[in-house]
Amino acid sequence: MCNQSRLRSMALDSSGKQSEQQQQQQQQQQARVSSEIGDAERYKLRRFPNAEHEPENYEDLPLEFCPALFSSLERYLPEELLNSTRIDKASFMRRLLLQYSPDTERIRIVRHREYRDKILSSYRRLHGEIYNLDPTSFFAPSFLRAVSRKTEHSFRSIMVEQSPGIFTFEMLNPRFCEMLLAEVEHMEKWVYDTRSTIMRPNTLNKFGVVLDDFGFDSMLQKLVDDFINPISKALFPEVSGSSLDSHHGFIVEYGKDRDVDLGFHVDDSEVSLNVCLGKQFTGGELYFRGVRCDNHVNSDSTEKEVYDYFHVPGHAVLHRGRHRHGARATTSGHRVNLILWCRSSTFREMKKYQSDFSSWCGECKSEKQRRQRESVNATKEVLLRRAAEKTLVELASKSCAD
Ligand SMILES: [Fe+2]
Ligand SMILES: [Zn+2]
Repeated sequence: MCNQSRLRSMALDSSGKQSEQQQQQQQQQQARVSSEIGDAERYKLRRFPNAEHEPENYEDLPLEFCPALFSSLERYLPEELLNSTRIDKASFMRRLLLQYSPDTERIRIVRHREYRDKILSSYRRLHGEIYNLDPTSFFAPSFLRAVSRKTEHSFRSIMVEQSPGIFTFEMLNPRFCEMLLAEVEHMEKWVYDTRSTIMRPNTLNKFGVVLDDFGFDSMLQKLVDDFINPISKALFPEVSGSSLDSHHGFIVEYGKDRDVDLGFHVDDSEVSLNVCLGKQFTGGELYFRGVRCDNHVNSDSTEKEVYDYFHVPGHAVLHRGRHRHGARATTSGHRVNLILWCRSSTFREMKKYQSDFSSWCGECKSEKQRRQRESVNATKEVLLRRAAEKTLVELASKSCAD
């Protein structure tokens, strides 16, 4: 089993849009904050700092609080957390700080809106036409045909289920891939020329851009609403049966002078779409190791859950966000992928009141099957004992009668 580290991405909101969507996302964020505070309450800070402990530097992490605050607070962490990874410690301290800063989330949303407005007012688009969804020019004909029929059968007819819950299919036209690649290069050039500091897609990727921040928000939500949602309802009813009502859309880049690989993680999504845009590269396979809930994220995988996927430009991989995975090193060339984390606020709300996720977590499923087997065996034993007792009584009464 690979070394596992959990990715906690920054939850980026879509700002400056319709007030209803915005309100919904704010409610989601509030819900997320409350659940995170719940986690933080399990641990207590030390009363006195551990003077011998050398705190880490948090300058390079995209955190809402001052990095120096994290370094100071680290000495007060409970003993069991002191030796965990920097990401885990930062994530714990962030949750703790949120507990005492009820306005933080609101402030972050406002700041993020300002950040986006700044980009949108200064960045000049290269291919304005790709900011509005045009299915016929974006998608491969086979994908368009399957989606227009909107049946599970039509979706499955263009897909290969490479391993349980991992679907691959041809999705994007080469011309659209080319234009999006050029637009991303144009964004990176703008960042360099204007000496802007931009937020990278998540805590693990140091390169790449958040497409939503550059004006792709509405186009990508339409892609989720009209295309990914119907497919996910058919293929992953237990996580997206209600609906995928928000997303985080970004580009990741691997190769020389870019990110090399990506550690083992789960996505902050219900369903993830990962499409390779190009260019020429070797390596970079995605490795999958089974779907797990929060309680079982570190459990071993079974042989059946081990699967490696080789990217093909224009082709997509669709999987549950909780399907544990990572990316191997891109050994040569330059690989660029479009990632769409699709989220469901209803699923997240419902998840808070559940403890059994056997409909999608491999480990919960095995545990449930184990419990069922034990219960069947126990019932069998009781029945056998009763039958034996009955036979004994019958024999005894028979011998008395004789
Ligand atoms: Fe991922
Ligand atoms: Zn589980």
